[in-house]
Amino acid sequence: MGRSRLSRTDVEARPAAAEAASDDLVTRGHGSGVAADQPVEELALERAVAHDEVLVLDYGGQYSQLIARRVRECGVFSELLPHHVGVDEVRRRNPKGLILSGGPASVYAPGAPRLDPALLELGIPVLGICYGMQALVLTLGGRVEGAEVGEFGRSTLTVSEPGRLLAGTPAEQSCWMSHRDTVFEAPPGFTALASSSESPVAAVEDTDRGLYGIQFHPEVVHTPYGQQILTQFLADVCGCARDWSPASIIDEQVAAIRAQVGDGRVICGLSGGVDSSVAALLVHRAVGDQLTCVFVDHGLMRKNEGDQVIAAFRDHFKVPLVAVDAEDRFLRRLSGLSEPEAKRKAIGAEFIRVFEEEAAAIGDARYLVQGTLYSDVIESGGGTGAATIKSHHNVGGLPEDLEFELVEPLRALFKDEVRAVGGELGLPERLVWRQPFPGPGLAIRVVGGEATKERLDTLRDADSILQDEIRKAGLYRELWQSFCVLPDIRTVGVQGDERTYGYVVAIRAVTSDDAMTADWARLPYDLLEQIASRMINEIREVNRVVLDITSKPPGTIEWE
Ligand code: XMP
Repeated sequence: MGRSRLSRTDVEARPAAAEAASDDLVTRGHGSGVAADQPVEELALERAVAHDEVLVLDYGGQYSQLIARRVRECGVFSELLPHHVGVDEVRRRNPKGLILSGGPASVYAPGAPRLDPALLELGIPVLGICYGMQALVLTLGGRVEGAEVGEFGRSTLTVSEPGRLLAGTPAEQSCWMSHRDTVFEAPPGFTALASSSESPVAAVEDTDRGLYGIQFHPEVVHTPYGQQILTQFLADVCGCARDWSPASIIDEQVAAIRAQVGDGRVICGLSGGVDSSVAALLVHRAVGDQLTCVFVDHGLMRKNEGDQVIAAFRDHFKVPLVAVDAEDRFLRRLSGLSEPEAKRKAIGAEFIRVFEEEAAAIGDARYLVQGTLYSDVIESGGGTGAATIKSHHNVGGLPEDLEFELVEPLRALFKDEVRAVGGELGLPERLVWRQPFPGPGLAIRVVGGEATKERLDTLRDADSILQDEIRKAGLYRELWQSFCVLPDIRTVGVQGDERTYGYVVAIRAVTSDDAMTADWARLPYDLLEQIASRMINEIREVNRVVLDITSKPPGTIEWE
């Protein structure tokens, strides 16, 4: 997407979307690597391998997932596996190449992840990036040392010998560095290709053995030739066919779903988010009316959102859909609750009850569709760190002991790839590009008080004006999320000759790559004025509008 007009985050992913969105029935923890203690078998993607594949071994780097995504953007399927995956497992998967990711450790730190030399003997080309390069160089007898000065951020790479890896790129180019340990000497048999001010050896290759290393990060936008260098490795060195695309999984998945489900009945909970929508459409393409979708409208959605889901699925795609208007039930459950956790628990429990009732009414369904994404697959087993900041993020999901067999057609895809598949399947643009929306919906945006019908309606009206203006300004896709918050307080105002005592609406708009960190969006003043004046003029209950200028950390994106 290039650099966002509204963002000041420094390292940005190229595609707009990221993985940790939370817009579906089941949400998950955040993080960027493979969960360290996760058994490798659980990460295996059951798919008919019809395309060349390159494996990324994860040494714990911040950008490991991004490397796999970049490889896929080059048209080569890629999976991320923990660095300790055994040689036998790598051989079994028969990849055309291996990439060793960066990582936070020093190669000399006690317990630092080691590179198994046997991986370098498989006859498969290997590219080490940052820590991956250092581990490779050290293993093969080069010299790596802790430097006095680290190299973090933008650097200039001077190419002395392009070799095979840097062929066709300029003699001087920008690159993104993030390291303290430094390679001072290439291993025997290797050619040093490039250097930077703090890295005497910033790129190496041994074309005979098919071993390559780069100190910089080709996967981030600040390395302008990064994608070209990756492509060079994938196409020229590994000889990959570059024929993979997110859309190419449609046929694969349709076949896999048919094989799994046979003539069984399938149900799918729709949330209005892109993941469950795309998963449902894939399953419908595979088994038609054996699928029934269930959409529980808890009355906590944004304005008209429920109608849009019904229009798309029932009217347009002709997917059998049970739409349950459960607003009253949810409002009753929320009555008297003002504490965030209590609201989430009540909504989660009620959601499961309604869903189970509907599933029972459908009868003999044996299969349940879930919009699990590839980032969930590699991060599951997490549950530490960031994921515990709001442990309730999975509230609104379905319990694990439901007696269904899961159908998970998106297990191989990153979020932006799911969007591409959605577009390919004809999902309306609004659903494809919907910003993440929390399972408990607007109830956790009426903050510090009870989510009553009156307050929810006020908030819904304010939110609708905000979305409308943000879309008109062409900013919707640039924002990770934009929404309103309604605190349970009133303030004094004056309108006409009258004193008013009304609600305050807070505007929250953030840019982010993955919801782990976020920056408050610098919305133009004129736009803010237009939004505020519309809210106050059009919504009787509102007499003041404020803007939230807190980034995450220290704030969270939601207020509750
Ligand atoms: P925070 O507020 O922790 O939010 O910065 C990070 C992302 O998670 C979403 N979020 C939720 N999603 N159920 C959900 O499905 C929840 O209870 C929940 N709480 C926060 C939030 O909208 C943001 O995208």
